Amino acid sequence: MSLIELFCGIGGVAEAVRGLDLAPQRIDLVTSRAVDIDLDCGRVYEHNFGNVFDCQTIESIDWDRVRFHKEEPELWWLSPPCQPYCRRGRGRWDDDPRCRAILSLIDWLARRPTGLPDYLGLENVPEFASASHRDRLVDGLEAVGFNIAEIVSCPTSFGIPNRRRRYYLLASHQSAVSIEMPQDSPQKFAIADVLETVPDDASELWMDSQSVAQYASAMDVVDADDRMAVTACFASGYGKSIIRSGSYLRQSGRLRRFSPLEVSRLMGFSAAFTFPPGYSYRKQWKMLGNSLSIPVVQTLLNGLVR
Ligand SMILES: C[S@@+](CC[C@H](N)C(=O)[O-])C[C@H]1O[C@@H](n2cnc3c(N)ncnc32)[C@H](O)[C@@H]1O
Repeated sequence: MSLIELFCGIGGVAEAVRGLDLAPQRIDLVTSRAVDIDLDCGRVYEHNFGNVFDCQTIESIDWDRVRFHKEEPELWWLSPPCQPYCRRGRGRWDDDPRCRAILSLIDWLARRPTGLPDYLGLENVPEFASASHRDRLVDGLEAVGFNIAEIVSCPTSFGIPNRRRRYYLLASHQSAVSIEMPQDSPQKFAIADVLETVPDDASELWMDSQSVAQYASAMDVVDADDRMAVTACFASGYGKSIIRSGSYLRQSGRLRRFSPLEVSRLMGFSAAFTFPPGYSYRKQWKMLGNSLSIPVVQTLLNGLVR
């Protein structure tokens, strides 16, 4: 089956697929095309998943020509920008240029096109569930014959010590879709299990005492030796905004940020996923903060295309 990853970023979905490929119940999904406007993301994507990156805006896509293989099943996965739908966003979706891409898909569906995929997945913030764009997208998909299922899920329900509540839409042109997600699984690993060695004193990961004094009461802090601790969602602003962008680790009596590798492990990325040389921590945090929880997406893909 062919996978087209739209708004692909660094390839969270390709990473989820790579893990499924190794699982006993193998899903035969191969990435055929990955589209994003961010060239830095594209470099990371190609570094990890091969030469399939296409740098263009989604709204400039000719939807009639997206379908890669006419003769084999195809899955399109979309991760449109969340900011227009976030509580912190402006909430004026129709005027927001970042919504043009999703609106172009909605308009295309309204034309009752051919060239539809067999399966479609979409991820966004939970607030998307109550946005008019969600209603229009669901109506458009149902009108062309898709079966739909939706869920808001968080990796903590899977026993992963990292919060990342997200809305997911799954659509199938083949059969009914049902989503079965684990509920309240016991914690699978502890934060200590994902940590690198303690950084040296000069590391930029350590927080300076002035910032800690100023923001202490608003910082989400977890202890390195607390095996039940759960980290907050790491957002793209981690490393830039001090509060509400992710957790801090108390280690050796000081506070530090989680390294990008530690964040990637908490999000479920495998050791096979790496950044090419030359990407600062800040850049890696930004890209990871825009990405996905890998185990959640794997469970969804497993249920959708089995
Ligand atoms: C929420 S992130 C998705 C990240 C991705 N799922 C991952 O695993 O990294 C949204 C992505 O959409 C891209 N993007 C935003 N607007 C776009 C547009 N109009 N056309 C193409 N890509 C766009 C951004 O560069 C960003 O990488």
